Amino acid sequence: MKTRITELFGIEHPIIQGGMHYVGFAEMAAAVSNAGGLGIITGLTQKSAADLANEIARCKDMTDKPFGVNLTFLPVVNSPDYPGMVKAIIDGGVKVVETAGNNPVQVLPALHDAGIKVIHKCTSVRHSLKAQSIGCDAVSVDGFECGGHPGEDDIPNMILLPRAADELEIPFVASGGMADGRSLVAAMAMGAEGMNMGTRFIATKEAPVHENVKAAIVAASELDTRLVMRPLRNTERVMTNAAVERLLEIEKEKGDNLQFTDVIEQVAGVYPRIMMEGDMDAGAWSCGMVAGLINDIPTCKELIDRIMAQAEEIIQKRLAGIAA
Ligand SMILES: Cc1cc2nc3c(=O)[nH]c(=O)nc-3n(C[C@H](O)[C@H](O)[C@H](O)COP(=O)(O)O)c2cc1C
Repeated sequence: MKTRITELFGIEHPIIQGGMHYVGFAEMAAAVSNAGGLGIITGLTQKSAADLANEIARCKDMTDKPFGVNLTFLPVVNSPDYPGMVKAIIDGGVKVVETAGNNPVQVLPALHDAGIKVIHKCTSVRHSLKAQSIGCDAVSVDGFECGGHPGEDDIPNMILLPRAADELEIPFVASGGMADGRSLVAAMAMGAEGMNMGTRFIATKEAPVHENVKAAIVAASELDTRLVMRPLRNTERVMTNAAVERLLEIEKEKGDNLQFTDVIEQVAGVYPRIMMEGDMDAGAWSCGMVAGLINDIPTCKELIDRIMAQAEEIIQKRLAGIAA
């Protein structure tokens, strides 16, 4: 499949692995890129710019294919060392950056001057248009079903993708709820030129997370995610567990008076315990509704090959047969 996305990023298949905190290490990104997709290292999981430089170097040792780095802009008090991270990305010869969170305008000139392509992840048509207007090369349109931060508009991909297609000139990929060849063909039918997956890539052999995390995703159904931190306008879709149910109780008790400090125990600094130690009740961790479509733990290559074969089968047999 050749699309503007495969051309832009120099990849074989139009499949991207979105940045994921404590999942997007070099092993994950290299496995996806080696399978013909675009793997992405999560910048902020690294504690410093020097650590990120080291992670980029490790990834280069594991793959000759293009891979990217995710830079997430968060509303935090002590801002991470973004200039240092941008320098590590440029010096490391990375060719693609996935930005997310706030508007990436502060890092765009430096990245573009270095010939780096920028794909901005956003959850609305208006933010996608903004990304286009400031010069982003592509966008990742993240629907309400996505794992992580779906924004506050609650528009699912069945509406969001065709809306994006109607408005955007730059290419975009569908993100949120994508799992298989059916997702890819549907996304393409709605105007996307590829797809971005998060949760699906965690349940792969190479994902460098504890086996308990993979097992939890395989065991979960589409009913097992919850939206947390909505009263803080920082909504996150997470897998339900004891900590999340407690968090939701606190939200109910506090109502409109909820402060971030009220839920800090359930959300701050919990990723290492979950992803590395497999303590599945340690806190809230992002997970998409797509968990309901995930029933196995293939290698990244098996997964991507299967997606491409299924997509081809749907287009050439099922759809062509219906249209005939
Ligand atoms: C465990 C996990 C951690 C994530 N961390 C980040 C992150 O740090 N930055 C970011 O931009 N997106 C993050 N995401 C969102 C993904 O990149 C992707 O947009 C999302 O998972 C797509 O939805 P899906 O899970 O339905 O495929 C995370 C998602 C998950 C599941």
